[in-house]
Amino acid sequence: MKHVIRAQQFNKKVLSELFSIAQEMEIIVKSGGSNVLAHRVMATLFYEPSTRTRLSFESAMQKLGGEVITTESAREFSSSAKGETLEDTIRVIEGYADVIVLRHYESGAAQRAAEVSDTPIINAGDGAGQHPTQALLDLYTIKKELGKIDGISIAMVGDLANGRTTRSLTYLLGKYDNVKIYFVAPEVVRMKRDIEAYLKRHKIKFFEEENLKKICKEVDVVYQTRIQRERFGERIEDYEKAHGKYIIDKEILDVMKKKAIIMHPLPRLDEIKQEVDSDSRAAYFRQAQNGLYIRMALLKMLLL
Ligand code: NCD
Repeated sequence: MKHVIRAQQFNKKVLSELFSIAQEMEIIVKSGGSNVLAHRVMATLFYEPSTRTRLSFESAMQKLGGEVITTESAREFSSSAKGETLEDTIRVIEGYADVIVLRHYESGAAQRAAEVSDTPIINAGDGAGQHPTQALLDLYTIKKELGKIDGISIAMVGDLANGRTTRSLTYLLGKYDNVKIYFVAPEVVRMKRDIEAYLKRHKIKFFEEENLKKICKEVDVVYQTRIQRERFGERIEDYEKAHGKYIIDKEILDVMKKKAIIMHPLPRLDEIKQEVDSDSRAAYFRQAQNGLYIRMALLKMLLL
């Protein structure tokens, strides 16, 4: 594995290896960190806003003894603002860093970067394309919380057309046995056809479902997502139609299985009510914490 660009590139064997390294990382963090990546440099190049992804990558590198160089708001503050191409920027940064973590507003940007880079590129989200490291930490969370991935049923809720996390997660879940996926999305942001075609090709069970409450009674995971306002452009009416349609609140909690979990890649707006946070099934903050361990594991795998 050289670059991390899309979820499909992982197989079950690599995933299980990654998860056991992540488990080791949990212990390493508790005991104060390590120096295995001393003198290695990670560049984070972010053209879109981020809190968790950038900071957990930076923390991951530092907890393994490595160094970080960073440009957030790269759209305004890097030479991209002067008109430099992404390819040129990458060619330059690869001379300064041992790994480049890239978030970009265009789908396919990470692939373009990888094509010109000998230094590993990690896709930290490319427009409405993919977010493979989020999917890795999502899957790790499911395994940790439920004890298994094979045989689970999951409802993916919200903006499935523009949300890159559900796209990547669907690809990963498809690698496991007997997984059932329910897509619960407002009409204007339904899951895209390419993903559905992939699921059909691989004979993975998926269903489109309109009634959130009904499906929440049955599933092991409710994966809620934010309606991605920034991807609607002028289509404010469509945004208004999607926003607020599916909300996780106390009423939904009451019908969920006792052992089920609620996940969300975060940030959330009002699609999960705060009243849900204190329930033990609300796993989203634990999920965000797992991002640190998974990203440490990934950096170790790529750099050692
Ligand atoms: C997600 C993203 O950027 O795609 N956030 C994240 O990385 N945890 C989800 C979102 O922005 O809604």
